[in-house]
Amino acid sequence: MTPAPQTRDPLTPPLLDAQGRTMTYLRLSVTDRCNFRCTYCSPASWGGKKDLLEPGEFERIVSVFARMGIRRVRLTGGEPLIRPDILEVAGRIAAVSGVERVAITTNASHLERLALPLREAGVSQLNISLDTLSEATFRSISKQGDFASILKGIDAAAGAGYASLKLNVVVMRGVNDAEVPALVSYAHARGMTPRFIELMPFGQGTPVPTAELVERLQATGLELAAEEEQQSAATAGPARYWRAPRGLVGFISPLTQNFCGGCNRVRVASNGDLRSCLGGRAQAPLHALIRGGATDTELALAIRGALGEKPEGHRFTEPGAGASLLSMMGIGG
Ligand code: 5AD
Ligand code: SF4
Repeated sequence: MTPAPQTRDPLTPPLLDAQGRTMTYLRLSVTDRCNFRCTYCSPASWGGKKDLLEPGEFERIVSVFARMGIRRVRLTGGEPLIRPDILEVAGRIAAVSGVERVAITTNASHLERLALPLREAGVSQLNISLDTLSEATFRSISKQGDFASILKGIDAAAGAGYASLKLNVVVMRGVNDAEVPALVSYAHARGMTPRFIELMPFGQGTPVPTAELVERLQATGLELAAEEEQQSAATAGPARYWRAPRGLVGFISPLTQNFCGGCNRVRVASNGDLRSCLGGRAQAPLHALIRGGATDTELALAIRGALGEKPEGHRFTEPGAGASLLSMMGIGG
């Protein structure tokens, strides 16, 4: 006789996806708006539209995920720091029981004012996007924004006592690839870890394969030693790190080194829809469920239902991928 199936509480960890991977990391897009217009990022909204979710609704979503086993939360956008209530959003999420680390991805335009208050609100990690040290190149990539205030914002972050600061660089051939060595020095001088990202097909530009960048860095005389795999496992992300004399150098290689196998992440878009995968389609309307009065158990069932359809990985390298992808802004990277 086959035993009756166990009825498990859907709120009890682990939170598994269709491939049996355990989800511990939530990326939460808190706005689809951005004050920049980077050439490689296709904005879902061009301003004017209001953000949909309230701080209390983010807190509710995060508390359900935390009960299910999520331990790290990253706030993304658009640009998260253009929300006037970002300190409240970050503070409430950092205070949720079970949440061990809150990180933010930002373009640094508001960091001069917010680096310290965010740290005090409980944010322990910042990933700062900076593609160039040249004001002219910055203008050509990001179209808007005050370059001097960005550099000041980065210095404010470097002095604010964060446990981890990363500098994310999207590398584009003929645009900023020659600056990679200078960006390594700039980051290391501020105690930050530079990470070079292969351009994904969301907008304009030509990617540069990671292997080529490593060779070019070594050709400048920089000593690079490949870190053990544990390093990547410990940081639980898709980046692979090399050790240089003054710190680590990271590479995120969505095109040449598929990292989907170790995926531990769930995304919630700025409209409150759970997206099980960056390359996938909308799957659970969490915001609508909350507004409709759903219980924690009902939310957990919707989350499990969507993750039951999480694909093995993205298909960025297949022909025509760019056209079928959702915009980066709404799903938050
Ligand atoms: N390719 C790679 N990374 C991207 N990002 C946005 N668009 C792309 C893209 N097309 C990431 C970068 C940027 C952050 C806001 O989102 O890391 O710094
Ligand atoms: Fe804004 Fe970042 Fe997109 Fe640039 S890449 S437009 S800073 S969200």
